[in-house]
Amino acid sequence: MEILKIYGGKTLKGSIEIGGAKNSAVALVPAAILSDKVVINNVPNISDIEALKKILSYLNVSFENEGDKFIIDSTNLENKPITLEHSKMLRASYYFAGALLGKYKHAEMYFPGGCVIGSRPIDLHFYGFEKLGAKVTNEGDKFIIEASELIGSEINLKFASVGATINILLAAVYAKGKTIIKNAAKEPEVGTVIDFLNSMGAKITGKDTSMLVIEGVSNLSGGNISVIPDRIEAGTYIIAGVMNGDNLKIKNVIPEHFKALTDKLLLMGADIKVYDDYVVASKSENLKPIRIETEVYPGFPTDLQQPMTSLLTMASGKSIIVENIYENRFQNIPYLNKMGANIEVSGRQAIINGPTEFKPGEVITTDLRAGAALILAALCAPGETKIKEVKHVLRGYENIINKLTKIGVKITLEDE
Ligand code: UD1
Repeated sequence: MEILKIYGGKTLKGSIEIGGAKNSAVALVPAAILSDKVVINNVPNISDIEALKKILSYLNVSFENEGDKFIIDSTNLENKPITLEHSKMLRASYYFAGALLGKYKHAEMYFPGGCVIGSRPIDLHFYGFEKLGAKVTNEGDKFIIEASELIGSEINLKFASVGATINILLAAVYAKGKTIIKNAAKEPEVGTVIDFLNSMGAKITGKDTSMLVIEGVSNLSGGNISVIPDRIEAGTYIIAGVMNGDNLKIKNVIPEHFKALTDKLLLMGADIKVYDDYVVASKSENLKPIRIETEVYPGFPTDLQQPMTSLLTMASGKSIIVENIYENRFQNIPYLNKMGANIEVSGRQAIINGPTEFKPGEVITTDLRAGAALILAALCAPGETKIKEVKHVLRGYENIINKLTKIGVKITLEDE
């Protein structure tokens, strides 16, 4: 088991290059199998991508990579059940269901893995598949999704789910006629999937809006896309800069994608400057407490809620966070309290009483963004903090050890 050791308290200086977005890349790679040969640029070097590569190999899809450029060739793709082991490797394993259903009208999978941050049902994915004419049945824990043919339909999502929107798109591109997805998710990661599918020959309109229209096609071929910069990785390092930076430069970003964060930081009085494709953040004194509610895009992203909590401990007064998306996304709090924070949780609300100072300690990562929150705390705690179960963080933060080392952090990843 790997353990992260951080010697905190040192000012963060220099620059950090943001990589391709995890949640975009993990959808684009499964989407690739809808075509023959595709190119995906700017793929992040994270363990979730390694997991997807294993699933591609299992499906007899070949891939080569030159650095962050992936060439995926699905000419010899075989439609096989996504095994329990593969399904559990990551949340995004479920995108193979939509893609295989679209291409073969038959897909088999198990309930996907991913962070344990709530019940995370996938009923809306199945609802969409069924509206396209598929039947979803169970064989033990396995889901079998099949259709004699997929027929375009109007699909009204009761919640603007990122996963369901993308999965339905993957199936609907090959459906006969027109599919309309209403209350579709507007996250930038959805838009990138649309661009990618259209580059293969799909006919999808309505990108960045809550209504997507898909005219089914009978063949997709070629295709290329570049993964967008990771807005959550960027947001995490911007928060790090506000907590303990000296003109920390966060480069290669699309600021519009994390405006909900920078708006809140400015409201707190944080010392940040936002440019066209980079942000400069410095340790900020006299931070004001604020209230944050997580929402779908363009609202405040749930994935930045936990990192933001670490910063809010530094504001003078009572800050409030309301987590509207996942019911169990406060697992970082007991550990932040152990490190000196004063946070109370009640249901979906956390009250952060500040200012408090972080002290080093031994803590455990329960999920990806909880891990990011603990790392942020450790960066400010003078002395050595040990963070266990760091595998969660490595799933989603590209080269985090190198990136933090480069900005002056003494950090090591060691075997326990
Ligand atoms: C994706 C992201 C995750 C992010 C989340 C919200 C990936 C791999 N993960 O997760 O990092 O936190 O978007 O921005 O891209 N829901 C249902 N039924 C469904 C699907 C979702 O009730 O069939 C509910 C969920 O329980 C949750 C909410 O919808 O309360 C959001 O889920 P969704 O947008 O689907 O998130 P994911 O795609 O799982």
